[in-house]
Amino acid sequence: MLVFGTRPEAIKMCPLVNELKARRDQFDVIVCVTGQHRRMLDQVLGVFSVVPDFDLNIMSSGQTLFDITCKVMLDIKETLEQCSPDIVLVHGDTTTSFAAALAAFYLHIPVGHVEAGLRTRDIHSPWPEEFNRQAVDIIAQYYFAPTEQARANLLAEEKKPEQIYVTGNTGIDALRTTIKQNYSHPDLAWADGSRLILVTAHRRENLGEPMHRMFRAIRRVMEEHPDTKAIYPIHMNPAVRAAAHAELDGFDRLRIVEPLEVLDFHNFMAASYLILTDSGGIQEEAPSLGKPVLVMRDTTERPEGVAAGTLKTVGTIEGDIYRAFAELLDDEDAYESMAHASNPYGDGYASSRIAEILGRV
Ligand code: UD1
Ligand code: UDP
Repeated sequence: MLVFGTRPEAIKMCPLVNELKARRDQFDVIVCVTGQHRRMLDQVLGVFSVVPDFDLNIMSSGQTLFDITCKVMLDIKETLEQCSPDIVLVHGDTTTSFAAALAAFYLHIPVGHVEAGLRTRDIHSPWPEEFNRQAVDIIAQYYFAPTEQARANLLAEEKKPEQIYVTGNTGIDALRTTIKQNYSHPDLAWADGSRLILVTAHRRENLGEPMHRMFRAIRRVMEEHPDTKAIYPIHMNPAVRAAAHAELDGFDRLRIVEPLEVLDFHNFMAASYLILTDSGGIQEEAPSLGKPVLVMRDTTERPEGVAAGTLKTVGTIEGDIYRAFAELLDDEDAYESMAHASNPYGDGYASSRIAEILGRV
């Protein structure tokens, strides 16, 4: 049984769902979605043609971590008892993943962790994700680590080497199928002739003043650089929307749009000059596309992209974001040193490796 509930988990689990389903002779695949995200999850399910067997449909507007944790725990119990799966696979670091793993643990069902071993080692950053991923790794019996670094992180916590498999990141599997030559979209046509900046933001620890500072810095730099246009597919969190509209409304060269389908978003990334984000998954995808990313966070659990030169953590102080963003626009050498395609997160075949391992264990 694969359990997931948010957009990024779906983008990274659907390739695995389809890979496992293709091996019908080996696996009975059950998909249980929590619906932690409703619309942003459904967008992804549609793209990958994944139809859940169970949908806990837990989302409420303005949901708290208590709401998500308790609802997932209580609602998934019956599904787990009814299906009695041989293994539950969860992904990454969301509250869906933590609560589903804990529920499986309470029922003595083995857990496999896809995208295991990422660490900042600061339990407050990202919050609550660093806790979630560490907690899932306490529970899990099978670790599907995307990189050697993630494996080293797990070994440093005395996880058993024979339980850790370095597979690459399944997010790169998705990227392999979404990027299209000759892709076009009206928003890209609008930005034609300008340097396109892609913006996203959603982290809980950035809600409030940090997010206001991020948007103010972006607007100031863009006001000083008339050859830029930005597209900002905005997260559905009402708190994000309030901050974005307060700081960015009335600035015509930055277009706020609804969340994009993943095929569109990947092609927007490919067409962009640079990306400003606090997202995790985008940090994995951008190096493959050779797109510089300014990570508006104090920490990153993706040091491979920093080592590859594509990512730079710039924090959430307005002046720091302003300087780093302006430098990338003004200094061609600084830009070129970041704009190199590299592939630290795998070759796009992580799902088939995980399927092969699951067939063996
Ligand atoms: C969650 C994950 C985070 C992940 C992010 C991806 C947790 C604690 N956080 O954060 O790790 O990086 O997803 O985007 O698991 N909403 C809608 N419609 C949607 C999706 C969300 O209205 O389709 C609203 C929710 O009702 C909620 C808010 O957006 O009020 C935030 O959603 P939530 O899942 O609680 O947290 P995220 O910040 O999205
Ligand atoms: N993404 C998308 N549409 C958008 C913005 C992002 O499909 O409008 C994709 C992006 O390519 C990446 C994932 O969503 O695969 C990242 O999700 P998010 O930033 O919400 O979560 P995180 O990765 O930080 O957990």
